[in-house]
Amino acid sequence: MDATTITVTGAGGQIGYALLFRIAAGDMLGADRPVRLRLLEIPQGLKAAEGAALELQDCAFPLLQSVEITDDAATAFDGANIAMLVGARPRTAGMERADLLAANAGIFGPQGAALNAHAADDIRVVVVGNPANTNALIAAAAAPDIPGDRFAALTRLDHDRAVGQLSAALGAASAGIQNVTIWGNHSATQFPDVSHATVDGRPVPDALAERFGGADAAASWLDDEFVPRVAKRGAEIIAVRGSSSAASAANAAIAHVRDSVLGTGAGWTSAAVLSHGEYGVAEGVYSSFPVTSDGGGYRIVDGLEIDARARARIDASVAELLAERDAVRELGVI
Ligand code: NAD
Ligand code: LMR
Repeated sequence: MDATTITVTGAGGQIGYALLFRIAAGDMLGADRPVRLRLLEIPQGLKAAEGAALELQDCAFPLLQSVEITDDAATAFDGANIAMLVGARPRTAGMERADLLAANAGIFGPQGAALNAHAADDIRVVVVGNPANTNALIAAAAAPDIPGDRFAALTRLDHDRAVGQLSAALGAASAGIQNVTIWGNHSATQFPDVSHATVDGRPVPDALAERFGGADAAASWLDDEFVPRVAKRGAEIIAVRGSSSAASAANAAIAHVRDSVLGTGAGWTSAAVLSHGEYGVAEGVYSSFPVTSDGGGYRIVDGLEIDARARARIDASVAELLAERDAVRELGVI
């Protein structure tokens, strides 16, 4: 099988360190597909990336054909089949939201342009660096020759967090939980939706009603505990761990790419993909949806019923995405 070229940006950071070894081991594309790694860093991050590359060599992974490290985006994306955009500018003390968007526009705009000019024709891009949805919008806008549906932002971590919370609440194995959906932005406004989910083939709302002693108690648990716990889990991890999620984020990024390339199988997953107006989500934003893939990239699941509670929550998260888009437009970035 031909080797796949995978570019990881921010490869010297903590998610990068949790990601590279698993890609090289075959966890992402399968045990039969050789990989070439390209690591893009800023000059200050090159040493950390070089250290990871030394360790990759020491693992002697049979699938790993090469590792190249660079601080030049054109070199990093040359012939890339998969780009995982992890490196981003974090929010620092005193930084306003507009400053954060502007700083990241300065990263994701040029990287989108470099992808447009240099990536392979089959390029697929997943944006991990925050604010992930709007960074995906910025990168896609700078890459007019790459179809917008080749870009996505990571909400698989939120999806897996929701499955983890349901698994704990119901005392059920995560493998038996299907068709959870994350809607909207990878932020505290996201809506983790279990209304179509099943546990061992049974509707999750029924299982929760049994667990909590009635439909009203289950609805209260969903509104007061489950939704905020999942939506604010990133902040909880930062508070407890002292830095943001790394191994779980890398695991989710691997699962996102794996399911896009190898297919989702039964049920659906969640990813922030380009809206064409599905489910009343404003066209043109990268919003999280229920998605499936047959190996050819993510498609939005259609025909799901959206109740009034879900409608209000989806609209609120999409309003935040539109506000981010407006802020970026005001900056003249898109
Ligand atoms: P980190 O600070 O440990 O690493 C980031 C790396 O990116 C650094 O090595 C830095 O040098 C590099 N970098 C910065 N600008 C770059 C650029 N222009 N080009 C290439 N590399 C660049 O951070 P981390 O913990 O690895 O997290 C990375 C990002 O992922 C953050 O924005 C974080 O908020 C985000 N994140 C997203 C999710 C999600 O589910 N979408 C989950 C966790 C973290
Ligand atoms: C997460 O969901 O863990 C991260 O997006 C949190 C963050 O701010 O880096």
